[in-house]
Amino acid sequence: MDQRKMHGVWANRWTFILAATGSAVGLGNIWKFPYIAGENGGGAFVLVYLICIAIVGIPVMMAEVLIGRRGRMSPINAMRYVTKEAGLHGSWTAIGWMGVLAGLMIMSFYSVVAGWALNYIFTTGSGTFSGVNGEQAGELFGGLLGDKGGQVLWHSAFVLLTLGVVAAGVTKGLGMVARVLMPFLFVVLIILLAYGFIKGDFAAAFQFLFDFKFDKLSWSGVRIALGHAFFTLSLGMGAIMAYGAYMPRHASLGRTIITVGVLDTVVALVAGLAIFPIVFATDGLVPSEGPGLMFVSLPVAFGNMPGGQVFGTLFFLLVSVAAWSSAVSLIEPGVAWLAETKRFNRVASTVLLTSVAWLGGIACIYNGAIFDALDFLTSQIMLPLGGLFIAIFVGWLMRRAIVCSEMDAEGHPLFDIWLFVVRYVSPALIAFIMIASLYDKLVN
Ligand code: PFF
Repeated sequence: MDQRKMHGVWANRWTFILAATGSAVGLGNIWKFPYIAGENGGGAFVLVYLICIAIVGIPVMMAEVLIGRRGRMSPINAMRYVTKEAGLHGSWTAIGWMGVLAGLMIMSFYSVVAGWALNYIFTTGSGTFSGVNGEQAGELFGGLLGDKGGQVLWHSAFVLLTLGVVAAGVTKGLGMVARVLMPFLFVVLIILLAYGFIKGDFAAAFQFLFDFKFDKLSWSGVRIALGHAFFTLSLGMGAIMAYGAYMPRHASLGRTIITVGVLDTVVALVAGLAIFPIVFATDGLVPSEGPGLMFVSLPVAFGNMPGGQVFGTLFFLLVSVAAWSSAVSLIEPGVAWLAETKRFNRVASTVLLTSVAWLGGIACIYNGAIFDALDFLTSQIMLPLGGLFIAIFVGWLMRRAIVCSEMDAEGHPLFDIWLFVVRYVSPALIAFIMIASLYDKLVN
């Protein structure tokens, strides 16, 4: 089967970087990171998160992309290929299956939140937030949450947008969208950062995010930080493996992935530094607000700053676009696999899988417990487990010569350090955090 003809290949290294960054940068950075940092006490949580990105996320991301590039097919078939090549039992293919399942589960709640962002483009654009205080912004968001039918509509619109891009094939369109709009997102975030700096309580926000008070951190907070490192890098479920499969043969994997990881982290930190100054300067807003944090605190800023209506509209537009380019990668592994079975074409595969995720989203809208359960199961269990197995596979089971040649790292001094991290450090840390938090849960 000629994979190149079937799925296409990124034009060059930069297209891969853009696509991978498009997948990584999304609601995880702008919506989720600030609110979970807020719920888990700030500083120490942020530090653990940064450590997880550096010594688990980025090294494991290299391993995951490497498998994709070696296998050159959907995660399920790529895993099948590398497993066979290593002479191992086929059960390792489960990494691919678990990934497809995790992608659908994440897409279910992800598209609900993306629907909120779509809705906010129009709410902000029509001037609803003009002059609001924290309490009023909270009520407006509460109103959206109470309107189940409305949420279903916005969620459906987002699922349709995703369907359109995945059905058309990832290479067309999306690379372009990411190239033009991602820099825009960054500019608007910087403007919000400046607003927070001038009008908000920037010092309090800075201290909250970077003052490492470990007494506020629990084991569950550590597990959430680890899980979020995976979520934000689109790691542990085959999304980035699928993108790796479309990567040109020769391109330095190490530098490419470090670029993606750093960009993703910077966006999250800037989002935190844009959101928290407003939280601390506004009566009625608290860091531990929960999933509504971004949807309540930013409208206060937009409602009270000059030009806020325009910036706000633009901002939620860009959040939606960021969510869109991430959602595409949630569905891609399953779609690529279905297309490879030749039983369905790409369009039919996409319709099938997005429909499943659409139904999952409806369930999330009508039952908040399902929303929470899907979020918990994927971020805190499935993605870290996927990452653990990927690290073990690449570190211990693949032939070293193959790993070295796929990394394009012949003779590179950092190669041995990376391999050491993937063999020992990342798996040990993932296992330790998962076991410690489980133990903590059983004891307490
Ligand atoms: N990384 C995305 C974000 O931070 O919003 C979410 C995500 C996309 C997670 C793709 C997992 C994935 F495979």
